[in-house]
Amino acid sequence: MSKITLQLCAESEVEMVCLGKRIAKALNYPIVITLAGDLGAGKTTLARGILNQLGHSGHVKSPTFSIVEIYEINSCRVAHFDMYRVKDPEELQFFGFHEYFDVSDLILIEWPEQISTFEIGIDLEIKFMTVGNTRNLIFNSMSESGDITLNKLI
Ligand SMILES: Nc1ncnc2c1ncn2[C@@H]1O[C@H](COP(=O)(O)OP(=O)(O)O)[C@@H](O)[C@H]1O
Ligand SMILES: [Mg+2]
Repeated sequence: MSKITLQLCAESEVEMVCLGKRIAKALNYPIVITLAGDLGAGKTTLARGILNQLGHSGHVKSPTFSIVEIYEINSCRVAHFDMYRVKDPEELQFFGFHEYFDVSDLILIEWPEQISTFEIGIDLEIKFMTVGNTRNLIFNSMSESGDITLNKLI
């Protein structure tokens, strides 16, 4: 399997939303994407751009407290996770974390460091780095679905 790496940057919140829209247009389903980076790095903002492009026009709630927000947009099923508050991976059993993998077209996971992602099939990793208002994003594909997505994005 090839492993494609790509680096892109967003100079503002608006650019981050645009980048999310670009990513949404490139997605090869089903796909699991991790969003890793500090608080305020722009993970939820990128998720908002993706969801907006897919056709969600309402508010995009940060799942920090709910852990997961579910969207069904024109028959595209999205699960947006935020693992920030998950202290024990066993908590994930409570809301049937693994079941989302069978029924979702797109899974976005903020704070993947909080859980053991090793038994989950991650297709694409996105790492966010903050330098002032600039956010540098490094994309690593981990599967064929990730490869196809990044090839479309390049
Ligand atoms: N280039 C940028 N991209 C995204 N957000 C930015 C950028 N510059 C400043 N910001 C600000 O950083 C914050 C990002 O918040 P959010 O997307 O919720 O981050 P996270 O989900 O990673 O904690 C917002 O308040 C936004 O206005
Ligand atoms: Mg967030």
